[in-house]
Amino acid sequence: MILLDGFKVANERNLALKVKIDELVKQNKRKPSLSIILVGNNPASLSYVKGKGKACELVGIEHKLYTLDENIEEKDLVNLIQKLNKDENVDGILLQLPIPKHLNDNMLIDLISKDKDADGFHVINQGNLYQKKETIKPATPKGIMSLLETYNINVSGMNAVIIGRSNIVGFPVARLLMDAGATITVCHTKTKDLSFHTKQADLLVVSAGRPMVVTKEMVKPGAVVVDVGVNRVDGKLVGDVDFEGIKEIASYLTPVPKGVGPMTINALLENTFELYQKHIDNL
Ligand code: GUN
Repeated sequence: MILLDGFKVANERNLALKVKIDELVKQNKRKPSLSIILVGNNPASLSYVKGKGKACELVGIEHKLYTLDENIEEKDLVNLIQKLNKDENVDGILLQLPIPKHLNDNMLIDLISKDKDADGFHVINQGNLYQKKETIKPATPKGIMSLLETYNINVSGMNAVIIGRSNIVGFPVARLLMDAGATITVCHTKTKDLSFHTKQADLLVVSAGRPMVVTKEMVKPGAVVVDVGVNRVDGKLVGDVDFEGIKEIASYLTPVPKGVGPMTINALLENTFELYQKHIDNL
C-alpha cells in the first residue's frame, strides 16, 4: 500500500505558492488577503480556522479572522459580509461551516461575492462547476483531485464510489471525478446495501462523518481509498474508514490526520491566490 501523503504534497504545493507570492511582493504588489469568519466556538471549527490562518501566514497570504458570538443577529453578519465584499483589499472570504441554526447558511454563502468566494460554495460557482465551466472549485474536492494527480492515479474508466452527498464534498467530488472519466456512484445514509457498492469501487472517497463506516471486507483488493473524515475517538483523530484493516489490501490510502486535511487547506490557499490574481487584474 502506498500512503497518499497529503501533508507532504500540500507542503510542496504551499511552497510553490509562496514562491509566486514572494515574487509579486518583490514587484511591489500587495499580498493576497483572506477574511475568515467563524461564528460561535465549535472546537473543531476553531481548530480548522486556526490551521487555515497558520497556512496563510506560511505562504504570505494576509488573513483576518472574525470571531463572532454564537448568538449574533443575522443582520450583523450580513453587514460584515457586505463590508468585506466592498473592501478592495480583501480577495477572499470564507464563512466557516457549520454556522448556528438561527442563521440561514445558504443565503449567507450566496451573499459572499462570487468573485471572493474562496470556498467555491456560491451558487453561481457551484453552477459553473456542474456545467463544466471554469470556476473556483470547492477546496476538499479540489485537494483530492490534486492528490490523486500527484500520485499519477488516472481515474479515467475507474468505478468511483463516493460516500456522502454534501455540497462541500460528496456532490462536487462526484462532478470532478466524472469529468476526469470515472464512473460515479454516490452513496449516502439512505443507501440500502453500502458494501454492495463499495466492493465495486476502484476508487472509494469516504465523507460520511462517522468512524469505521468502511471496513476491510467492504473494499476491493487494490482499491484506492481516500478518507475525508475527521472524528475524535478516545482523544485521537481518526477518519471514516478502518485504516489498520484497509491498509493491508488497498493500493493507495490516505492517512488521517495528514491526508486530505492539508490538501483542503492548500486548495483554499490556491483558490485565494486565484481570486487575488483576477481581482488585481481588474482593479
Ligand atoms: N466546514 C467543513 N469543511 C469546510 C470547508 O471546506 N469550508 C468551510 N468554510 N467550512 C467547512
